[in-house]
Amino acid sequence: MMTSTEAPLRVLNIVGARPNFMKIAPLMRVFSDPGSGIEPRLLHTGQHYDAAMKAAFFDQLGIPEPDVDLGVGSASHARQTAAIMERFEPELAAWRPDVVLVVGDVNSTIACALVAVKRGVPVVHVEAGLRSYDRAMPEEINRVLTDQIADLLFTTERDALANLEREGIDPARVHFVGNVMIDTLRANLERARPPAETLTAHGLPPRILEGAQGHGLLTLHRPANVDDPEVLVRLMETLAGVAARVPLIFPVHPRTRERIRAAGIESLLQGRGLYATPPLGYLELLGLMRGARLVLTDSGGLQEETTALGVPCVTLRENTERPVTVSEGTNTVVGSDPAAILAAVDEILAGRGKGGRIPELWDGHAAERIRDCLVRHYRP
Ligand code: UD1
Repeated sequence: MMTSTEAPLRVLNIVGARPNFMKIAPLMRVFSDPGSGIEPRLLHTGQHYDAAMKAAFFDQLGIPEPDVDLGVGSASHARQTAAIMERFEPELAAWRPDVVLVVGDVNSTIACALVAVKRGVPVVHVEAGLRSYDRAMPEEINRVLTDQIADLLFTTERDALANLEREGIDPARVHFVGNVMIDTLRANLERARPPAETLTAHGLPPRILEGAQGHGLLTLHRPANVDDPEVLVRLMETLAGVAARVPLIFPVHPRTRERIRAAGIESLLQGRGLYATPPLGYLELLGLMRGARLVLTDSGGLQEETTALGVPCVTLRENTERPVTVSEGTNTVVGSDPAAILAAVDEILAGRGKGGRIPELWDGHAAERIRDCLVRHYRP
């Protein structure tokens, strides 16, 4: 901890998109504690801006209003990344932080990291070292590049260190601290919204939850799954087959909503076991996830959250950058093959889903470990 003569460490924390919000919440909380040795600021790039994609998370998770909102909005990768970089640079120059902290793997992560490092401001990356080894994923590019230019790298699982060493990163800069997203999950479990309330709020009958198999939760938004109409139609037809076995609640990401409309398959979302809602807030999703018989998803975050909750997860991707959720947790990576998806679902519904244990250091205290490490490193 700092002494009274030392200036606090000025940490500029960056968020941009929905999955960043649950990672920054516990960090802002511990950084804001008097005596933390840190003076935090929060900058939102504006990559996600809708009430459902942003405000619901800030409100529910008690994240302070950002000190700065760059307001970039949606665009192609190049335009979005460039707009963030251009608007971020003067803000960085104006506040002159000691370090810039970025989380996760979205475009805001790499855009702000790149600006900071070129202005000589050390970059701290939270959730470093995850690799899918699939360079067709925009997030994989963002992860690899951010880790290359980061000064301190905080990892969520032990496998991450080997990935980083393979890319020539000095292990002395890498610290295994656990998972800040699971800090948020544990802190909010008691506040999770009961599933029946969430359904009612969206005009769906709570009796959906009362069948013998309970309910499943579905999320889908990866470009690889939703951008090609042929892939999307095949996947949605398979998921309709799943929904015939167990009712599926499906909060639809705006990207996916648009692709479903363009592919002309909106009728699949009307009843017959598949129940669409708008994107949900954190506490609503947590309640639906915790109470679910199974989760089908292509999200990175849900793979980890289901492992922490002990709920079986069927991952609709060919790979995962979060292998601990498979080796220790409840996750099965099945890809997009219809037969493989249905077989995995049938196993779970027959009561043969994976058990699992909570991975090391997913204990609700990752943010404190990051705070201690930052102060030790930059204010020795
Ligand atoms: C981004 C992240 C992805 C993350 C996902 C979670 C990158 C490269 N991708 O993907 O890693 O898993 O967020 O949501 O950073 N839109 C809205 N309202 C919003 C935001 C977006 O309607 O508040 C719509 C826009 O039409 C936009 C589309 O969603 O074009 C996609 O948004 P974008 O941020 O580009 O990518 P995501 O697919 O959300």
